[in-house]
Amino acid sequence: MSTLVDYSVDDGIAVIFINNPPVNALSQPVRQAIKEATMAAGGDDGVTAIVIACAGRTFSAGADIREFDAPVKDPSLPILNDFIEACAKPVVAALHGTTLGGGLELAMSCHYRVALKSTRVGLPEVHLGLIPGAGGTQRLPRLIGAAAAIEAITTGRHIPANEAMDLGVLDEVVEDDVLQAAVRAAHRLVGDGVISRTGDRDVDLETLQDGVFSKAKAKLSKRRRGFDAPQAAVDAIEWASTVPFSQGLLKERECSNTLKASLQSKAQRHLFFAERLALKIPDIPKDTPLLDVATTGVVGAGTMGAGIAICLLNADLPVVLVESKQDALDRGLERIRKTLDRDVDRGRLDSETRDVRLARLTGAIGLEALGTVDFVVEAAFESMEVKKKIFTELGSICKSTAILATNTSTLNINDIAAVTCSPDRVIGTHFFSPANVMKLLEVVRGDKTAKTFVATTLKLGRRIGKTPALSGVGYGFIGNRMLEDYVRESQMMLLEGASPAQVDSALEAWGMAMGPCAVMDLAGQDVSFLTRDQNRELLPNDPLYCVPGDIMNAEGRFGQKTGKGFYQYPDGRTRQNDPDAIDLINAAATKLSVKKRVTITDQEILDRCLCALINRGAQLLDDGIALRASDIDVVWSAGYGFPAYRGGPMFYADSVGLDVIVQSFETFAKEFGNDYGYWTPAPLLVNLAKSSKTFAEYDADQKGSA
Ligand code: COA
Repeated sequence: MSTLVDYSVDDGIAVIFINNPPVNALSQPVRQAIKEATMAAGGDDGVTAIVIACAGRTFSAGADIREFDAPVKDPSLPILNDFIEACAKPVVAALHGTTLGGGLELAMSCHYRVALKSTRVGLPEVHLGLIPGAGGTQRLPRLIGAAAAIEAITTGRHIPANEAMDLGVLDEVVEDDVLQAAVRAAHRLVGDGVISRTGDRDVDLETLQDGVFSKAKAKLSKRRRGFDAPQAAVDAIEWASTVPFSQGLLKERECSNTLKASLQSKAQRHLFFAERLALKIPDIPKDTPLLDVATTGVVGAGTMGAGIAICLLNADLPVVLVESKQDALDRGLERIRKTLDRDVDRGRLDSETRDVRLARLTGAIGLEALGTVDFVVEAAFESMEVKKKIFTELGSICKSTAILATNTSTLNINDIAAVTCSPDRVIGTHFFSPANVMKLLEVVRGDKTAKTFVATTLKLGRRIGKTPALSGVGYGFIGNRMLEDYVRESQMMLLEGASPAQVDSALEAWGMAMGPCAVMDLAGQDVSFLTRDQNRELLPNDPLYCVPGDIMNAEGRFGQKTGKGFYQYPDGRTRQNDPDAIDLINAAATKLSVKKRVTITDQEILDRCLCALINRGAQLLDDGIALRASDIDVVWSAGYGFPAYRGGPMFYADSVGLDVIVQSFETFAKEFGNDYGYWTPAPLLVNLAKSSKTFAEYDADQKGSA
C-alpha cells in the first residue's frame, strides 16, 4: 500500500490513516490508496467496520487544487466517495483541524462523523470559482436542509464543530482522542447493525420555503456580484431536492467540470496560490530564523492606529497603544472598545473573548512605554518630519530585537530608517483603511531591512489575518503607484467629457468593487491632492494631470466627508450625480482647451484605465519594486477591489493577450498623443509580447533563475 495511507486492523476495526502533509489533500495517489484500503477492509472477514482518519494538523482540507488543470485520473473523488458510501461495512470519519472541501465531502460519504471540538468544517469551493463537485451539493442539503446548505456553500465559511453538530453535519463532537472515539463509534454501529447513508436521505421539506432558491440567487447577485460559482451552487442545491440522488450527482459533476474549465475559476485558483507564494521571498531562505512576537505596540490612536490595534488584539496579541495627548488616547481606546462591542452585538465575538482582548490593551502617553515590546507599528500622521522624530526615539527606546514598522502609504522607508541606530529593523507595513477590515497588508522592505525582520513581519501579517505582499521602496509602493496611473486615465476622460457616473459604472459593471471617482471621494480629494502635491517631481509634468481632482480639492469638495466631491452625498454615504461637479470639470476642460469628445464608450473607459494599470504593474516588475506579477495580483485583489474572478490585473492581461495590450497602446498613442509617455509600453510588456510570453511565464522564469 502507498506510504501516503497507512492501513491497520485492530479488534475488527480497520483504520485508514491518511498521511499527506501539509493538509492531507486528496491527490490521485491518496485517492487510489484509500480505495485500495477500503477494498481490502471490505474483503477481509476479520474487519467489521472502517475508520478514516488523518495524520498531522488536519483531516483532509480537500481535493488537491494543483491537479485541477489536468484531466482527472481514476479514481476520481466523486467515484471514491460513492464507493465509500456504498460500502457494506460501517465507515466512520474521525475529523480534526480544518475539514474542508473534498475532505468534508469524503466525510459526508462516510456513515458517521465524529470530530474533535476544535475542528472546523466547510465547503469553500466558491472561493476557487467552483462548486463542491464530489457530492457536496447533494449530500450537505440532505444532512442540514436546503437553506442551511445554501448559506454554508455560498459563503464557504469554516463552521465550528459544535455548530456543525447542531446543524446536522456531524454526529458526535469529542474533547480529545478523536481516533479512539471513532473506533468506539465503529463498534457501536456494528452492534446496531444499521448503516445510515447520506445519499439515501431526502432533503428536509421544511427547509424548502417558498422561493428559497430564487431569493438566494437574487441576494447573491448583489453580494457576490459577477461571480458565477455561488449562483451555480444554488442551482446544484436545488437539484438535491428536485431530482433523484444519482441524477443530482451527475448534474453536479457536469456543472463542476464546466466551472473548473472557466476563466473565473482559473483566476481564483491563481489568487489562492499567489497569496501563498507572496509569503516566499526568493532571497530569504525558508529556514530563516523568525523572531518571537509576543507583545506589540501601536504609536498613534487615530483611525488607522486603532484599527491596527484591533487586528493585533483579535490575533490574541497584547497591545500598548501610545499617544502624545491623553484626550487623543482616550478617543482611540474608546474607538477600539466600541468596535469590539459592535462585534459582540453582531454575534461575531462572544463577550468573554472581548473582555479577554480588552484586558490585553493598555494605553500610554509617550514612547517610553514601548521599551519591552517585540513589534511596534507607528501609525502617526503621514509626514516625514513626524515619522523621523518618532523613529529617532524608537531606535533608542525599543529593545534591540524589536521590529520597528511604519504604517505609511507613500513615504520613503529608507529615509525613515536612516534616522534610527539600526535601520535593519525598520520595515513598512501599509495597512488599508479600515485596518481591522481590509485584507491587504503591503510589507515594504527597506534597502537595509534584515531578512529575519522581513520574514517575521510577513508571518505576523498572516497571523493577524491579513494577506501580505512584499514591495520594494518606491513612491506609492505597488498598490498606490498603480492607482495613480489608473486614476490619471479616469480623470483624463472626465476632462474629455465622460461623467464620473459613466466612468465608475463602466468599471463597476466590469467587476471593480468601486469606480475610481467614487474611490477618490471616499479616500478624500484633499488627501489625494496632498499626496500628489508632495510628490510632483515624481509625476508627469502634464498640465492636465488629475485636474478634476485638483479642482475638487480647491473647491473644498473633499468627497464623502464634506458631502460633495465628484458626486454629492445627501446622506453622507450614498452617491448621487452632481451637475455642479460636472460643470466645474467642463469649465476647466474648456480653459485648458481639451477637445470634447462626442462619445466615450464604456469599452474605451475599461481599456484605457486597465491598460494604464497593467503598464505600471509591468514597470514595477522591471524596476524590482514588485517581485512577481502574481504579487501585484494579490495587492489589487486584496486591497483595491479588483474582481477576484478576473485574477488581478496581470492575470487579466495574460488572459487578454499581451500582444493585444501592446497593440492598444499604439492605438491610444495615435489617438490621444503620447507627450508624457502614457502610452509607451513598459519594456517588460513589450519583450513579453514580442516573445509571445505571459506574466505567469515571466514569474516562472524568475523562480527558475532565483
Ligand atoms: N490542494 C493543494 N494544496 C493545498 C490545498 C489543497 N486543497 N490546501 C492547502 N494547500 C497547500 C497550500 O498551497 C500551502 O502550500 P505551500 O506551503 O507550498 O505554500 C500549504 O498547503 C499550506 O496551506 P496554507 O493555506 O498556507 O496553510 P494554513 O494553515 O494557513 O491554511 C487551510 C490551511 C486548509 C485552511 C488552507 O490551506 C485552505 O483553505 N486550503 C484550501 C481548502 C479548499 O479550498 N479546499 C477545497 C478544494 S476544492
